[in-house]
Amino acid sequence: MAEEAKPSADGPATEQAGEQEQSIDPWSVSGGADGKIDYNKLLEQFGCSKLTEELVARVERLTGKPAHPFLKRGIFFAHRDLEEILDCYEKGVPFYLYTGRGPSSEALHLGHLVPFMFTKYLQDAFNVPLVIQLTDDEKSLWRGLDIDEARRLARENAKDIIACGFDVAKTFIFSDFEFVGGAFYRNIIRIQRCVTMNQVRGIFGFTPEDNIGKIAFPAVQAAPSFPDCFPHMFGTRKDVRCLIPCAIDQDPYFRMTRDVAPRIGHLKPALIESKFFPALQGESGKMSASDTTSAIFVNDTPAQIKEKITKYAFSGGGATLEEHRSRGANLAVDVPWKYLNFFMEDDVKLAKIGEEYGSGRMLTGEIKKELTTVLTDLVSRHQRARAQVTEDVVDAFMAVRPMHVL
Ligand code: TRP
Repeated sequence: MAEEAKPSADGPATEQAGEQEQSIDPWSVSGGADGKIDYNKLLEQFGCSKLTEELVARVERLTGKPAHPFLKRGIFFAHRDLEEILDCYEKGVPFYLYTGRGPSSEALHLGHLVPFMFTKYLQDAFNVPLVIQLTDDEKSLWRGLDIDEARRLARENAKDIIACGFDVAKTFIFSDFEFVGGAFYRNIIRIQRCVTMNQVRGIFGFTPEDNIGKIAFPAVQAAPSFPDCFPHMFGTRKDVRCLIPCAIDQDPYFRMTRDVAPRIGHLKPALIESKFFPALQGESGKMSASDTTSAIFVNDTPAQIKEKITKYAFSGGGATLEEHRSRGANLAVDVPWKYLNFFMEDDVKLAKIGEEYGSGRMLTGEIKKELTTVLTDLVSRHQRARAQVTEDVVDAFMAVRPMHVL
């Protein structure tokens, strides 16, 4: 098994030698000795391909639309079989998108929005159907969340997801607690039959102390990669390819899926994978919904956003004004700069800020002010969109209804 992954049967992508090697799995992310994540090394450890400039150019050519800033700026940086999806598109062969979220918190933070903003761009650019899995079951198993609480959070999170602008005619959102059954469940069992305890241990690092639900769960996240889980969208077709936009920590699930796929008569899903959105305090990991000072949430007020950026955003600026003016800011560790790279749309303005701030002409206070404006704007736009998402709208996205998407 694990045809495409370097990690051995000894556990997830953690290197054995040296102190503090980076370790990335779906439940925790920690950087190497310097606290940083080495994404090139991760490509190698996971066995994914680099998303090259040529591929991005091909996406632009085929869709006739400018590439999303996340593509141009290398935030989505890795893939598996993206070329094959583009070949399909070029020939007019249909494919669909699959992404998801584990509903562990009331409100999403900015890091959570990244895959959904990107998926929205992909849906529009390629005009394709989309399924979004809410893994309320996963969060009950891992976080010990009460089952009804997990179901409630799934619905709340669905509102934030819908606010990203998805097209209800082409988008099906489902909660595992509601939708597992039928063709979906039959695929789950087909997958479970193919994966042994030793294999999930090798891929995910499970131990004998983990509850048995965790051990079985990866098949639940794998199954939506197969179109016949969704008879109301794809009938019984097995030849509709799947492209999964996600953060790279989800890769282990889909390595497993890709191994199993041909053995149960399915196509392997393709992937397009992002880097992590850094915590306010700096690069060394993902933001955490449980630490409110580590992240900016989509329901923060302008005053909270301003305070968090001013107080907590890690600065790569010089320690003193003289030092800053003479040496400039260290952009490689500067959080305001990193956040602007995610969310400032204007390429020209962004490049100018990089130059000014990197050379020390622009001060930390000034870049933080730019960032405050950008994020306040983004969050208030999101809040306006979310206010439009009524319970009826959620029901419409989550209804199992005939969808004419192919
Ligand atoms: N496990 C993911 C999380 O905890 C949720 C998820 C389910 C997902 N299916 C997915 C993420 C497909 C990306 C792609 O957030």
